[in-house]
Amino acid sequence: MADRANIILIGFMGTGKTAIGKRLAQALGRPFIDTDKEIEKVTGMSIAQIFNKHGEIRFRSEERIAIKKACASRNAVIATGGGAVMDVDNIKIMKNSGRIICLTARPEVIQSRIKRKDNRPLLHRDKSIKKISELLCQREVFYKQAAEAFFDTSDEEHEQVVDRILHYLRGNTNESCGG
Ligand code: S3P
Repeated sequence: MADRANIILIGFMGTGKTAIGKRLAQALGRPFIDTDKEIEKVTGMSIAQIFNKHGEIRFRSEERIAIKKACASRNAVIATGGGAVMDVDNIKIMKNSGRIICLTARPEVIQSRIKRKDNRPLLHRDKSIKKISELLCQREVFYKQAAEAFFDTSDEEHEQVVDRILHYLRGNTNESCGG
């Protein structure tokens, strides 16, 4: 890829944005930015602490700033939080700064991945398939609006997903719009 557009990973919690983003960045020799990590650095608080102490509205405001800053870079791989796409301005900024790839996974897979950690305030109390499916359903329209391509990470190792994304970005496949 000759251009310097960012590659931006969006998708629900537990779809592998951070892990896959890091490997993708490594494979491409590009810097990696994780907007949640940036928010934690700037605020000096964990994402859970921001939600607990200041609420979701404050988190979303920090998230907007982090998206803007990350998208001002060039040539980076950027992993975003699962809810970043719920803001139209975030989508606009992301679209203007690069190519948006959405990672997906089945609700059962998401559940098994997120239950290992308790760092996701929105699923802190209820990690049921019902809750995950509800949230997924609310978010789907935003992911579809934002992404040019979808990659299901449910059944593959991260390396394999990275290979598929690289193949797609190099223009060797039309694996887009999978939903
Ligand atoms: C959120 C997803 C989280 C984090 C925050 C809110 C969401 O990021 O930004 O807890 O609204 O879906 P991950 O998608 O990396 O878990």
